This record gives sequence, C-alpha cells and structure tokens, in this order.
Amino acid sequence: MYNSTVMDHFQNPRNTGDLSEADGIGSVGNPACGDVMKIFIKVEDDRLVDIRYQTFGCAAAIACSSMASEMVKGKSIEEAIALTRQEVADALDGLPEEKIACSNLAPDAIRAAIEDYRSKKID
Ligand code: FES
Repeated sequence: MYNSTVMDHFQNPRNTGDLSEADGIGSVGNPACGDVMKIFIKVEDDRLVDIRYQTFGCAAAIACSSMASEMVKGKSIEEAIALTRQEVADALDGLPEEKIACSNLAPDAIRAAIEDYRSKKID
C-alpha cells in the first residue's frame, strides 16, 4: 500500500517528540478519523530553527509529519507557511488516494504553530 519512502519515514520518523521551550504549538485533528497531530516550533530570526511533533495517527500521517518537519526545518516562517500537502506527498513519492486527507495534518499543524508563535510574539 505504501511506497518505500513513506515506509522509511513511518518506521524511522525524523524530529519526533516535543520542545519544552517551544515558541509556538499547533494542534490539529483529522475530522474523518479523529486522529491528532501536535507540532512544536522554535523560531529565531524568523526561521524555524527546530521542529518536533507528536502524531497520533496512521502511517501516512506519521510519514507526512516526518517529511514535513524535514522540509521546513531551517526555513523562513513564510516558506513554512507556504508548504502544501501536495508538496509533502510529492516528497514522499506519492500517497495512496484514500490517504490524501491525512497529508493535510502536517501543513495545517505547522501553520497553527506559526499562528500561535505570532500571537505570543511581542515586538
Ligand atoms: Fe487518521 Fe490517517 S487515518 S490521520
């Protein structure tokens, strides 16, 4: 069902866990299945210098969390906001059609974490 890239990120997920001193935390759920993803970000000079996640979801959701975290780590906030589920799915060499909805979680949770960071930021 899953290709080898997806299986690699599912079995060896990168950047898992949480950040005790996160600058922003975003949590989103998949209404279709009730699974949840929580993303923690550390921001310096408008860049995501670190990112972690806790994903309570299927293999596709975990693989997307892992790949998305690799794709935005070190990137600017604007670049991270622009990440799409299609880009994550493409980087994973594709996902089964019925799992496309699961790939929404990672980009949405990253945006939610950035919104949280911005709401707390005092210039
Ligand atoms: Fe719930 Fe994929 S089935 S996130």
